[in-house]
Amino acid sequence: MEYQEVKVYAPATVANLAVGYDILGLALESPGDEVIVRQGTRSGLHITRITGDEGKLPLAVEKNTAGYAALQLLRHLGKTDMPIEMEIHKKMAMGTGLGSSAASAVAGVYGVNAYLGHPLSKSEILRFAVEGEQIADGAFHADNVAPSLFGGIVLIRSNDTLETTQLPVPAQLAVAMVYPHIQILTSESRAILSESVPLDQVIAQTGNIATVISGLYEGDMKKIGTALCDVIIEPQRAHLIPQFSQLKEIAINNAALGFSISGAGPSLFALCDGLESAEQVRSALASHLDSQTIAADTFVSTINTQGAYQIY
Ligand code: HSE
Repeated sequence: MEYQEVKVYAPATVANLAVGYDILGLALESPGDEVIVRQGTRSGLHITRITGDEGKLPLAVEKNTAGYAALQLLRHLGKTDMPIEMEIHKKMAMGTGLGSSAASAVAGVYGVNAYLGHPLSKSEILRFAVEGEQIADGAFHADNVAPSLFGGIVLIRSNDTLETTQLPVPAQLAVAMVYPHIQILTSESRAILSESVPLDQVIAQTGNIATVISGLYEGDMKKIGTALCDVIIEPQRAHLIPQFSQLKEIAINNAALGFSISGAGPSLFALCDGLESAEQVRSALASHLDSQTIAADTFVSTINTQGAYQIY
């Protein structure tokens, strides 16, 4: 069944989750991008309107993460001539570390798939969404796209084959987020990373990710808290973010399970045992940022376990 018009939502995400660079991510309840798809008046897919992007995003389908992801789906289905119009409504700033381009790519491909009556499953459209996001930073990794599409906490065994596993999400898990108003380009934040990693760091990080995953399966917050620590990537990126070490100390002193950079930054996240705890961490971080006159948004969120969904 084809719909007259559909509107879909795809949530923001926290990639890496400290211990899983490029292979781990979680979906936030909000913010999230919205895409509207309807029948067009001319042949092919056309983006007719973008809001919330301060005029920065291209309307050209091939150059737009949402447009390109949807186009890849239409190519796969042999429906590139079908007249389709797309509107993109950005609900988060770009270059924030909240997976903004991934949310758009997911909403774009999920929106067109929904418009066509869901001919493919979410797993089957994952690759198109990752190809869409790739336009933004040039790299092919699913740690924002997969949680935005599927929801919850997602582990990616391989970014080549896109094998993913949904990890359990303990109900009380909550996140305090800080978005300092600076822009970090993902491509630059990736370019500064060392190509090789000392063996002792690999051993430490492997122990940490395995323990975090074990803690998720057991619902053991204390265990998660002992291991949510990035010894490889965070030390190389921390200098990009003002007051990073002070903010981390404040979060941990206020009982956060862990605190690190969200994706490529500049956003930061604190994983917390309950919304009340997340609110306490958020408030302490906000007071410090205020005292340092660093412009930032702070918010708390639970974990979105549904992923992208159709609003109508
Ligand atoms: N894993 C990615 C990174 C997420 O940290 O560069 C940002 O796209």
